[in-house]
Amino acid sequence: MLLAGLAALTLHAGPSADQSSLDNPFIVKPYLQLGDLPKLSPSAPVRVLWQAPNETDARWAVDVRQGDEPWRPAIVTGGRLVGAPDALYRLFSVPLTRLEPGGEFEYRVSKHGQVVFSARGKARAGHGQPYRFAVTGDTGANTDQEKRVVYQMHRAQPDFFAIAGDIVYSTGRMAEYREKYFPIYNADEPSPETGAPLIRSRLSFGAYGNHDAGTGDLERDPDGQAYFLTWSFPLNGPYNEPGLPNTQAIKGPADRLKAHLGMIRSTFPRMANFSFDYGNSHWTFLDSNVYVDWSDAYLRNWLARDLAAARSATWKFVVFHHPGFNSSRAHFNEQQMRLISDILEHRGVDLVFNGHVHNYQRTKPLRFLAKAAPDRTFRIRAPYVVDGDFELDESFDGSADTTPDGVVYIVTGAGGAGAYDPDQTDNVATWQPYTMKLVSDVYSFTVVDVEGARLTLKQISERGDELDRIVITKPARSSAATAGR
Ligand SMILES: [Fe+2]
Repeated sequence: MLLAGLAALTLHAGPSADQSSLDNPFIVKPYLQLGDLPKLSPSAPVRVLWQAPNETDARWAVDVRQGDEPWRPAIVTGGRLVGAPDALYRLFSVPLTRLEPGGEFEYRVSKHGQVVFSARGKARAGHGQPYRFAVTGDTGANTDQEKRVVYQMHRAQPDFFAIAGDIVYSTGRMAEYREKYFPIYNADEPSPETGAPLIRSRLSFGAYGNHDAGTGDLERDPDGQAYFLTWSFPLNGPYNEPGLPNTQAIKGPADRLKAHLGMIRSTFPRMANFSFDYGNSHWTFLDSNVYVDWSDAYLRNWLARDLAAARSATWKFVVFHHPGFNSSRAHFNEQQMRLISDILEHRGVDLVFNGHVHNYQRTKPLRFLAKAAPDRTFRIRAPYVVDGDFELDESFDGSADTTPDGVVYIVTGAGGAGAYDPDQTDNVATWQPYTMKLVSDVYSFTVVDVEGARLTLKQISERGDELDRIVITKPARSSAATAGR
């Protein structure tokens, strides 16, 4: 009786603080992430994340259901308090459990007993299921082109998508995510003018680009490295402590640095590199920033072991930001990631997705062996040029010949930030010998359909036009053959 009386009082008192917090409950609306992967879990884990104002008395709830089953509650904890002392907010990360692999599900978020958000999602596919994924890069610039690419990506209805780094411009700040990423990738309605409700309904993954790393200077960018709060990936990377070699250096006044590192400690620097399986594919995301020396034996061993362990994967895909093989004049010298070509080839990687260069490029299938520098080392340093010997598969064309001999490298960095060197489109004389296709006069993303041992890769423009298409197939016994590599 007492509770009912209080509710009535509130209703008659006009708009209350509670009502306004229900009308606008989120700083960042809910979106889906894979999260860390518990070992030996038979189900397909998904997490729903959101950001909300710091209200100690807020009562949040999340329900989920698949098919005809009744709504069942997820376990919601209070939300982690993060942010600057004068702008604290709560970061929620709620696991949705017992989802069928590859299955669609519905979820709803309630506050004070009232549903304030609902969406449909899709769980990670199991080994035998076909799937479609999209990839773009260099995107969160709040441009008309970014919105059109996101809209077209939504139209393609991928099961999940990846961003090959430079997720937000220009220094990886949470303020930039809130302005240039979330409103566009999680727009309420799909339209070429606004973006699309993509991340609320599909898993997404991102590589750590140079703009995501930002300045590393807390005095300039106090909310930098927002990647480590925004995303939630498997925590299986090689480094678990700040200050280790090949991890980003962050600087600032001692007290602020301590608070910042404390805030991101559960994911930084571990999450700069990670891997997971999706359907019959294995995915490895790498940190290609220049503070990482990929000639380092520990790091190379981590990568080799990660790829070798994926014995049951038919396909192996690798994503990092800086392309080793690029024909644009822009960023041509930043070749540091050529140093891992031998590992990728030896461990049977099929496709590599890069960004950094704001256009679309596809190489011929290639093998590359780096030459040692004059000091007899492979240690990389400015200007990051890596010379070596190439072997190119000249016969693969993705239609008559669909079996590449070597790794195919894709630059898909035309996701919204200003296009580079548009005059190089169709200007073959300006391309490196390893380049097969280069489109730089239109914004675009990649979409790939995987059905067993066959995949079809298409590059789609911001207007929905097909710019490129290849098919890759593996011999019928490829699963077993791949397992042996
Ligand atoms: Fe970049």
